[in-house]
Amino acid sequence: MDKLLIAGGVPLSGEVAISGAKNAALPLLCAALLTREAVTFTNVPHLNDIGTMLKLLAQMGVKVAREAARVGAGDTVTLDASGLDNAVAPYEMVKTMRASILVLGPLVARTGEAKVSLPGGCAIGARPVDQHIKGLTAMGAEIAVEHGYVHARATRLKGARLFTDMVTVTGTENLMMAACLAEGETVIENAAREPEVVDLANCLVAMGARISGAGGDVIRIQGVDALHGATHRIMPDRIETGTYLCAAAATGGEIRLTGASATSLDAVIDKLMDTGCEIIAERDAIRLKAPRRLTAVSIRTAPYPAFPTDMQAQFMAINAVADGTAVMRETIFENRFMHAVELIRLGADIKIDGNTAFVKGVPKLDGATVMATDLRASASLVIAGLVAQGETLIERIYHLDRGYEGLEQKLAALGANIRRVK
Ligand code: EPU
Repeated sequence: MDKLLIAGGVPLSGEVAISGAKNAALPLLCAALLTREAVTFTNVPHLNDIGTMLKLLAQMGVKVAREAARVGAGDTVTLDASGLDNAVAPYEMVKTMRASILVLGPLVARTGEAKVSLPGGCAIGARPVDQHIKGLTAMGAEIAVEHGYVHARATRLKGARLFTDMVTVTGTENLMMAACLAEGETVIENAAREPEVVDLANCLVAMGARISGAGGDVIRIQGVDALHGATHRIMPDRIETGTYLCAAAATGGEIRLTGASATSLDAVIDKLMDTGCEIIAERDAIRLKAPRRLTAVSIRTAPYPAFPTDMQAQFMAINAVADGTAVMRETIFENRFMHAVELIRLGADIKIDGNTAFVKGVPKLDGATVMATDLRASASLVIAGLVAQGETLIERIYHLDRGYEGLEQKLAALGANIRRVK
């Protein structure tokens, strides 16, 4: 299994291109199930999770054409779901990627039936899908959960007033997609306001859907009889952007990220400025210049527009070497501090109490062998490895390949001493 070897201590400097957003691309690819016409996506990141989703769609009878581009340039993917003939997402695929649940809403809306394996728990928490099921049931689907599968049937979904118990990103996306082909109006209250939900809504509207309010917490959808083809450019990855900003900040570097948008990153940029970094947002790029030593920043994760849980681990790496003590509260996932014990192996001073981490900055970290446990945890270990003195070997980096396109190439272009080893 591949590992990542990093010799730390080099301040990152230079320019790299940010890729399209994984968490926007995954629901968008599923949206192609809603129409018999071809849908083309550009700026699709070249990631293992995207490959898994395309495989899942292909085994349902969707025709997939993927034109690969160089790192950072964005692939072009065209999906044609006119021959859709197998509305099943099998366990073998869902178990490798929870986002497979995003086929449920579009499948039942378009074909009247869907059979999707229940995603199990994962490293960061139990992550049930009860809200997806509750919403579709309220829209008239008959749903049975049996033998580990969610089996949904409906002659035609009916518009309904939906309220989710908590803010759920993929839950909102699944229900919004299903509602596009339902009869009448659907109102999703307590909707997720994440920019990826807005990107999805924009594409659906381009496909003929009637949606208003995406980006707010009440989304209204007037169902239509059919959607048509469209071409859509996937938004830049705000979490990848934030991760590179953190890497540059932690190493005392100065970088420019192109193809990036600062508007969806306010909470993260605000905190980075509190650490002492200078940040300049340009039209399609972001510049960061780090101070000699960062100041520790406390954070509390919450749904957008608050601080994203997907950036918590990277900020823990920053706080590990900053001046002062940070209090970090994780409110979205119950088990998302797995990186803390690995950071401690590199010399960090971190105490965990329930959903709160107390991180006391130390002047330096020392390289060691550490293990990646999930995607964002891996990113925090990469940042720590870039800072640590000596060599850091990160094991189980397949987690990184799920969500960071060309990570070694991009970091090497910024001057990092990093390579993949067997
Ligand atoms: N939840 C339920 N029941 C549901 C749905 C959610 O209890 O039916 C709970 C979850 O267990 C969690 C909370 O609600 O405690 C929020 O979960 P949400 O549904 O918003 O998460 P998700 O949609 O499964 C997406 C991203 C995650 C990101 C979260 C939170 C995608 C494909 N995944 O997951 O991304 O952390 O929103 O912002 O969009 C990542 O990229 O590393 C990643 C984990």
